[in-house]
Amino acid sequence: MKILAIETSCDETGIAIVEGQKTPEGLSFAVLKHALLSQAQLHAEYGGVYPNLAKREHQKNLPILFEQFKDEKPDAIAVTQGPGLEPALWTGIEFAKKLAAQSQVPLLPINHMEGHLISSLVKDGKIENVQFPVLGLLISGGHTEFVLMREWFKYEIIGETLDDAVGEAFDKVARMLGLPYPGGPHISKLAAQARAISGRSAVSNHPLADLQGGNSTSAAGISLPRPMLNTDNCDVSFSGLKTAALYALRDMGGIQTLSAEQIADFAREFEDAVGDIFTAKTLRALEKTEAKTFVIGGGVAANSYLREKLGAVVAKEFPEVEFKLPEHSITGDNAIMIGEAALARRLSGLEDESKEEIRAMGQLSISSAK
Ligand code: KG4
Ligand code: ZN
Repeated sequence: MKILAIETSCDETGIAIVEGQKTPEGLSFAVLKHALLSQAQLHAEYGGVYPNLAKREHQKNLPILFEQFKDEKPDAIAVTQGPGLEPALWTGIEFAKKLAAQSQVPLLPINHMEGHLISSLVKDGKIENVQFPVLGLLISGGHTEFVLMREWFKYEIIGETLDDAVGEAFDKVARMLGLPYPGGPHISKLAAQARAISGRSAVSNHPLADLQGGNSTSAAGISLPRPMLNTDNCDVSFSGLKTAALYALRDMGGIQTLSAEQIADFAREFEDAVGDIFTAKTLRALEKTEAKTFVIGGGVAANSYLREKLGAVVAKEFPEVEFKLPEHSITGDNAIMIGEAALARRLSGLEDESKEEIRAMGQLSISSAK
């Protein structure tokens, strides 16, 4: 089965055609073609994504990208329904509706977060022998949630951010440090440089070593809090960390007074704080859910430090849990993940084509997926 998928939830315009089939152990996928246009450069001027600008760009880019796909004959069209920026989502939905009507194939609405989660389970083009329950940590610019999947396509959010998404925190702190949007990769690069200089790797001797007491102090004396580290749930909070970063920077005399080394150290301390928070909450979530598979997904899942740190801590504390890391190419927003989620649903026999008009749903939760 071949699905043509469209993704326009935020600032990436993506189209992909993915073929999928059932295998004795699960599913296999082949990405036949994919195209992605990022608007990040454009939004960088404003330091964030502007919904109406995103909409205009998607409207401009979709027909251009589609030129490469116009001779394809898919069995269905899949499109991101939400969550995301509604004006942006609408452009993809309208485009997909027309395509589905023209080629008289079903139109499948897909949840963007389900796309992140399902595509993160794909390894070498296959999803095989998945052990349930699956715990997913979805970390992106708009979301931060622990999702429990006890059976295919049934999701329960067992913890989430009470305020900002972690990607947003990365982007805001990056902005304070004078780094361009999206700031996550820049913070990550600087933090790695700072660790290389101080000789500290991502993995400390004991996974909880630097969790003791909450704060850690770096060589340059920068110390940021780890909000909600010890609360007995799987929720997280990043707005306090962001504000603490702002005050810490002000107390140090402002960004213009800092040396390159101090800025890198600041980035490292921020990333350490994020790493400590997710380590503690992941261990709690694994304990609570007795999950057999742990997977991370979303844009922030590209972060090397988090990948390494979570990998090490899960291997040590829950050696029986299989830790699945998404391929780097799939972490950011793209249409391949939407195609894979749609194929996984269809090949599992779910009759999920829309019986009614598909509406863009900016706040659509993964827990409402049926
Ligand atoms: O999933 P995504 O591409 O878009 C949303 O659905 O939000 O996530 C984008 C977010 C941005 O906040 C970006 O800064 C962050 O992912 N990000 C990273 C890294 N690469 C992307 N954050 C930390 N480290 C990275 N290497
Ligand atoms: Zn995303």
